[in-house]
Amino acid sequence: MNVLMSRQKALMHPAAKPLVFLLCLLPFIWLLYGAVANQLGANPAEALIRATGDWTLRFICIVLAVTPLRVVSATPALARFRRMLGLFAYFYVVVHLLSYSWFDMGFDVADIVKDIVKRPFILVGFLGFLLLTPLAATSFNAAIKALGAKRWQLLHKLVYLIAGLGLLHFFWMRSGKNDFAEVFVYAAIIAVLLGWRVRQYLKKKRLQPNLIRRSQLSKQ
Ligand code: HEM
Repeated sequence: MNVLMSRQKALMHPAAKPLVFLLCLLPFIWLLYGAVANQLGANPAEALIRATGDWTLRFICIVLAVTPLRVVSATPALARFRRMLGLFAYFYVVVHLLSYSWFDMGFDVADIVKDIVKRPFILVGFLGFLLLTPLAATSFNAAIKALGAKRWQLLHKLVYLIAGLGLLHFFWMRSGKNDFAEVFVYAAIIAVLLGWRVRQYLKKKRLQPNLIRRSQLSKQ
């Protein structure tokens, strides 16, 4: 009980959010430093595109893990960080897209469009980016109010589809090299997190008729 309380207290501390913000920014600072100090290896452009792709997928997994962790560890304060973590997933995908547009395509919009249409793995990634955009745009309180909680929740369920698209994008990219080890690790993490959600949903559905019956009995 004491451990629970102190965990809650630490997460509610005014310094907790700035600290998490800095932690989320560290990979970007590290990459920026690597680029400036010429420490990104023989192909810095490829290293940047790949690392920002990896961090996008990692942040999507982290966001998906917030609710299961919050429930399993009985730590409601974890919910405070969900929005920031989601926005960091968007931040890294934007840097990923910009790195690709700059280093691979020289910011030639016609070439980028041609490449998106021609290469299915790029198309799938781009679809993931497009779907993440409304989630990032509606992550503010005013948007939640304007949409209404139910519609907002429904829209934000898209994150599972986005995770699937990110995974497919990664799988497709690695299939050229027959190297699926990391893809399977991400697939397993996403499957466990989605499985937990499905289990919760089924549990709630099974409980609901019992609750309705109990409330009807208590009224009689
Ligand atoms: C939700 C959206 C996206 C996710 C989760 C994602 C994730 C990833 C991941 C994990 C990688 C592999 C990194 C590695 O090998 O370690 C990657 C590579 C790549 N992605 Fe994405 N990506 C997304 C969107 C995009 C978009 C919008 C574009 C461009 C239009 C794009 C273009 C690329 C390219 C060019 C590579 C590197 C391919 C290579 O080096 O052969 N991605 N991405």
